[in-house]
Amino acid sequence: MAEVFVVGSINQDFVLKVERRPDPGETVTDAVLSTHHGGKGANQAAAAARLGGSVVMLGRVGDDEFGEPQLSNLREWGVDTSLVERLAGWKTGSAFITVTPDGENAITVAPGANRGLTNEDIEAAADTIAVAEVLVAQMEVSPETVRRAAEVAARRRTRVLVNLAPPFEVGRDFLEKPDPLVVNEHEAAFLLGEKVEGTDAALSAASRLLELGSRSAVVTLGASGAVFADRKSSGRLPAPEAQVVDTTGAGDAFVGALAVRLARGDSLEEAVAYAVRAGAAAVAKEGAQGSLPTPEAVEAL
Ligand code: RIB
Repeated sequence: MAEVFVVGSINQDFVLKVERRPDPGETVTDAVLSTHHGGKGANQAAAAARLGGSVVMLGRVGDDEFGEPQLSNLREWGVDTSLVERLAGWKTGSAFITVTPDGENAITVAPGANRGLTNEDIEAAADTIAVAEVLVAQMEVSPETVRRAAEVAARRRTRVLVNLAPPFEVGRDFLEKPDPLVVNEHEAAFLLGEKVEGTDAALSAASRLLELGSRSAVVTLGASGAVFADRKSSGRLPAPEAQVVDTTGAGDAFVGALAVRLARGDSLEEAVAYAVRAGAAAVAKEGAQGSLPTPEAVEAL
């Protein structure tokens, strides 16, 4: 029985370290290529397991050369992959990531087998979802599948954490399920239809997300930490100073940490405070899973 059930994407990441991104029609050379295990779902599952959570993942990879290594990698992190299947004839999801010297990333994803996960697969996993404390989902599998997973979890009284990344149009009936909904400033702006920049704007965005139906909301702010709001309280949690090499996956480390702490019974404020430190610890090395922190590393910050 796992505390945290992650439904989501598993990607092969191709990372280009480059001085600057090309403009449309331009060629930039001298980039350095590296490959990493990634996908928001896999990163969040690995982060939660690294922090001591018992984690089961539901996802799909292809039967190409990238599929099996992704499964072995998740197992090495301690994630239960018994619900991850290799789909014949599909390519494993892949992500093409450029990282500039400031550590910022830009990502293009080819979902591949991630989109082969179906509503029937979710229903087949309903009993495992029911015994988990927290269901975690992001938006790199098809939105209908995330919707079904949230419905199953709500029906079986498992807490739902949705990281709306990348952002999708979702209705009030969907937004009523997550507790919390986790978004960054761009995703909050997408949902609210207005700019969200800085801590004050993020705090008011979190309250507005509650008006849209969400039971609680967290807005992440990168180096500035995060804000949260639920029906009883709201607040801001600053991040500790961090040496930035690559911010890819820092949001996933945040979500994985948040899930583990909520599963263990922390209040939303306590869990966000912990997750902010986990996110800060995850930017020190290249690759989304390259610097996932241990509980000791988080405590040390
Ligand atoms: O959040 C980072 C992740 O986004 C990368 O690992 C990449 O696979 C994309 O899904």
